[in-house]
Amino acid sequence: MAKSSSWKLFCMGCFGGVEEISTKKSTKGGEKKSSHCSNNSSSSPSRLSFSSLDSTQALSPEDLSLTLSGSNLHVFTLAELKAATKNFSTTNFLGSGGFGPVYKGFVDEKLRPGLRAQQVAVKYLDSEGVQGHREWLAEVIFLGQLRHPHLVKLIGYCYEDEHRMLVYEYMTKGSLENHLFKRYLAALPWSARIKIAVEAAKGLAFLHDAERPVIYRDFKASNILLDSDFKAKLSDFGLAKDGPQGDDTHVTTRVMGTQGYAAPEYILTGHLTTKSDVYSFGVVLLELLSGRRCVDRARRDREQNLVDWARPYLKKPDKLYRIMDPTLELQYSHKGAQKAAAVAYQCLSHRTKSRPSMKEVVEALEPLLELRDVPIGTFVFTVEGDEGEENETKKIDMKVELTGREEQQSDHHDHHHMRHKKRYPNSAIHAEIVLRRDRSGSYTNSLRKGQSSPSHQRDRGA
Ligand SMILES: Nc1ncnc2c1ncn2[C@@H]1O[C@H](COP(=O)(O)OP(=O)(O)OP(=O)(O)O)[C@@H](O)[C@H]1O
Ligand SMILES: [Mg+2]
Repeated sequence: MAKSSSWKLFCMGCFGGVEEISTKKSTKGGEKKSSHCSNNSSSSPSRLSFSSLDSTQALSPEDLSLTLSGSNLHVFTLAELKAATKNFSTTNFLGSGGFGPVYKGFVDEKLRPGLRAQQVAVKYLDSEGVQGHREWLAEVIFLGQLRHPHLVKLIGYCYEDEHRMLVYEYMTKGSLENHLFKRYLAALPWSARIKIAVEAAKGLAFLHDAERPVIYRDFKASNILLDSDFKAKLSDFGLAKDGPQGDDTHVTTRVMGTQGYAAPEYILTGHLTTKSDVYSFGVVLLELLSGRRCVDRARRDREQNLVDWARPYLKKPDKLYRIMDPTLELQYSHKGAQKAAAVAYQCLSHRTKSRPSMKEVVEALEPLLELRDVPIGTFVFTVEGDEGEENETKKIDMKVELTGREEQQSDHHDHHHMRHKKRYPNSAIHAEIVLRRDRSGSYTNSLRKGQSSPSHQRDRGA
């Protein structure tokens, strides 16, 4: 399956030309304070705006460190990061994107006062890559000043000669993209998907509701990272923009982003608003529901663009099952799926005004975490006789209803179930479970040989 085409420039310099940058040093009366933003959904008014920096004039390492002196960012040397990553060894390689390669590393508390010993991810700007100093600086300026439980923490950076690096907290479980689309990882359960959607929405809401809003501009599954508890955090602020100020309704920029995620009006006009992020959120929500990439050239023509294909189903509760991820094996809250689909539909509206704010999205999605109408499925148990009695295998059709406390399996769900069974006859929830009697006479169970790999491991990703 093809990865959605990534980075970055759709239409070089079409709208607004080079982004306007003034030479002011700070936003308010020359003040320069740190702003360790909290969870209270507002960043300090004194946040140094990126657009107030002249990124066309080289900012010396000393100037930058002075500019960010209140931010608690650590400035590392090339030698220190070499040591932390075992000389950027291939065994420490985590992956690479438009910025360059990313390596796992470890920093010792002895390296700097105030630094905790911890695993880190070191992103090394590829001088030949599609991103450059400007994106690196944007990341340092934005993430250096913004702090929130659902933004990945920037620990420090390296700015030495031509070397540019970013040092982040290490996110053990990697990206949402990997968990949704890679065959080798188990399918994400429904509850995890909703939790990730809510947490990523909170990260975006925090940016949008700041005194000086930040437009993230690159919201996509690969930029949502997961920690060891699957807590979601946004990473990659290289494309982030300061939002409009005063009476302005939008900022005009070159059109950048990732195909399939960027809002249509932004692609057409270059007008960027917080509602462009809301559209991208809708795309990711749809990926979470469907388990499909937003652009997938390996699919039939009419299914290649996820939004075009799925949109008509989002408003039709009785047809929603057609777009739901088969790897969920129907184990999702049907109420929750309908509500999430309705939110996705609104976010994906062509009219920016019809899209909700991210705060409204959080309010709509958070209650879905409480829904318990998640069916576990119906199993057919096959009871085998004792060893040597294979011929006496008895088949007992035993319906096991493992449902949450709220709604037991409804007629509606049975319909879903039948349709699903027809469509995915090898689905694991219909798999036979073999009960074996051990020497003590008690039964143990296991999936019947040949059915031990659920259908989704064949259907997924590709
Ligand atoms: N803080 C981190 N902890 C753990 N893994 C990370 C961290 N940051 C990035 N990675 C991993 O490094 C890889 C590359 O990430 P990167 O953000 O550079 O590219 P991308 O998001 O895949 O693409 P793009 O450049 O289009 O944003 C991804 O597999 C990602 O999961
Ligand atoms: Mg990324």
